[in-house]
Amino acid sequence: MPEIYEPQEDSYLMSDFLKKEIPKLLKINPELKLLEVGVGSGINLLTVKSVGVKKKNILGTDVNKEAVKHCLNLGFNCITSDLFNKIKGKFDIIIFNPPYLPLDKKEPKTSRVATTGGKRGNELIIKFLKQAKKYLNSDGKVFIITSSLSSAVNFYKLSYKSKEVAKKNLFFEELSLWELSKIS
Ligand SMILES: C[S@@+](CC[C@H](N)C(=O)[O-])C[C@H]1O[C@@H](n2cnc3c(N)ncnc32)[C@H](O)[C@@H]1O
Repeated sequence: MPEIYEPQEDSYLMSDFLKKEIPKLLKINPELKLLEVGVGSGINLLTVKSVGVKKKNILGTDVNKEAVKHCLNLGFNCITSDLFNKIKGKFDIIIFNPPYLPLDKKEPKTSRVATTGGKRGNELIIKFLKQAKKYLNSDGKVFIITSSLSSAVNFYKLSYKSKEVAKKNLFFEELSLWELSKIS
């Protein structure tokens, strides 16, 4: 059974950013619809609710059933889904703090689902971004984290405009948080 991801530096990078950014977006659209892919412990769901996103407008997903059960117990709408395969509708904001590390065969399989993004580390992110466009409103935004330890993602090639909105230097890696919007 995969473990529920314990919040780490990447989780706090996303959560701290959302605390500042979401209130600005809510001023423009108080009915902001937000989807989090890969909810884990629910740290980001709790954050966006605490800064004013209405609970009815928040949906969470995870491929890990235990994480989904945990977030349902926290009171959120949450479904088990591999990326978007069970998702219907469109959202103003889609957030994903993804598994982004390159495969390390020594890592236990129980934690790999939360950490490993593929052989090069960026494969799941690329798959996510290819699918996300269909679920994003025309002026919607994706907030996503990448790491210097995995291969870079060419956002432009995937038809997204990108802006690095936050970063965190750890002694062994640099984490970046990106705001992406569809190139129309
Ligand atoms: C790095 S953890 C982040 C968890 C939480 N959002 C946080 O910031 O602490 C990545 C999460 O993505 C989930 N995940 C991995 N592959 C997925 C997929 N294909 N579809 C949906 N969720 C996935 C994992 O189970 C894990 O909960």
